[in-house]
Amino acid sequence: MITWFRVGCSCVAATGFTVAATGCGNQSTLAPDSHASHDISNVWWAMLVGSAVIFAVVVAILAFGLLRRRGQAPADRRPLRSGTWMVAVGGLALPLVVLVVLFAATIKALPATSATGQKTSFTIDVTGRQWFWDVSYPGHDFRTANEIHIPVGESVLIKVTSADVIHSLWVPALNRKIDVIPGKTNEVVFHATHAGVFRGQCAEFCGLEHAHMALLVVAQPLAAYESWLNNEERPPPPPPTPELEQGQQIFLGSDCEYCHAIAGTNASGTIGPDLSHFASRLAIGADTLPNGEGYLAGWLLDPQHFKPGTQMPATALSGTELQALLAYLESLR
Ligand code: CUA
Repeated sequence: MITWFRVGCSCVAATGFTVAATGCGNQSTLAPDSHASHDISNVWWAMLVGSAVIFAVVVAILAFGLLRRRGQAPADRRPLRSGTWMVAVGGLALPLVVLVVLFAATIKALPATSATGQKTSFTIDVTGRQWFWDVSYPGHDFRTANEIHIPVGESVLIKVTSADVIHSLWVPALNRKIDVIPGKTNEVVFHATHAGVFRGQCAEFCGLEHAHMALLVVAQPLAAYESWLNNEERPPPPPPTPELEQGQQIFLGSDCEYCHAIAGTNASGTIGPDLSHFASRLAIGADTLPNGEGYLAGWLLDPQHFKPGTQMPATALSGTELQALLAYLESLR
C-alpha cells in the first residue's frame, strides 16, 4: 500500500513540476497569445488529458490483475481466456487510434505555426550569439539586443541565423521553437494578439550560458512601435553634463568600445550587444538581470558572478569612474 502511495505521490509531483515549469510567468505554452500558440497549447492539453485517462485505465487494469486472485494457490492460477483479446485491443488497436488522433491534431496545428505561405508586413533579423540575441530591422540602420519590438496584431516575419553554434529561438506565448543554425536562415512568424512583454529563451544547449540566453518580445500598438523604431534610428545626443561626458570618455577610453557599439561615437564593436539605446531596454545580459543602476554596477564589476562564462570581462574602476560610467550608460535612451 505504501508503494502505491509513493507511486501516486511521485506522479502527482511530476505532473505538478511539469505544469509549474511550463506555466510560470509570461514564458508559457499555457498562456498563448497568438493563433499558432493557441493551436500548440490545444495539442498540449489534448495530450495531457489523453495521457491522464490512459494512465488511469492502465493503473486500474494493473490493480485488477494484481488483486483479483490474491490468496489463490499458484497452481490454481490459470491465464485469462481474454488475454489474447486484451493484447490485441490494448496493445494494438487502442494505441493505433491514440497515435492516429495525435498525428491528426499535430498536422492540423502545423500550418498556423509555419512561416510558409503566411502574409507578413514586417521583417526582423535575429542572430544568435554565445550568449545573446543580436536584433536588426531590415531597412533601418540600427542594431539592438535581447529585445524584439513588434507591432501588436500584425504578422512579423522573424528571420533567424547564428554567428557561432546552433541555438534555438523559442517564445512560447507566440509560436513554436525554431532552430538557429550557422550559415542557414530559418523563419518563424510572431503575431501577438495583445500588447505585452513575452519572454523567450534559447531552447538548444549552446554552451555554458545556454540558460542565460533569454530575450523579451515587446508587442506594442503600431504608433508606439513606430515611435520606438524612430528613436532607435536616432543616435543618442552628445552627453549634456560633465559627469555624463566623463562617463562617455571612460567608455571610449577602455576596452568597452572594442566589443560594443554606441551610435554617434567611435565605439563600433560587434562582438557584444549594441548599446546605443541601452537604457531603454528592460534587462541586462540577455535577461539575466533587470536593467537598473544597481544591477548594472554589479554586472560591470563582476559579470562572471551573474553569468559565468560570459565574454564580458570584469571592469576595474574607481568609485567615481564607476558612477560616471553608470550615469552615462543609463542615459542612453
Ligand atoms: Cu543559445 Cu542555448
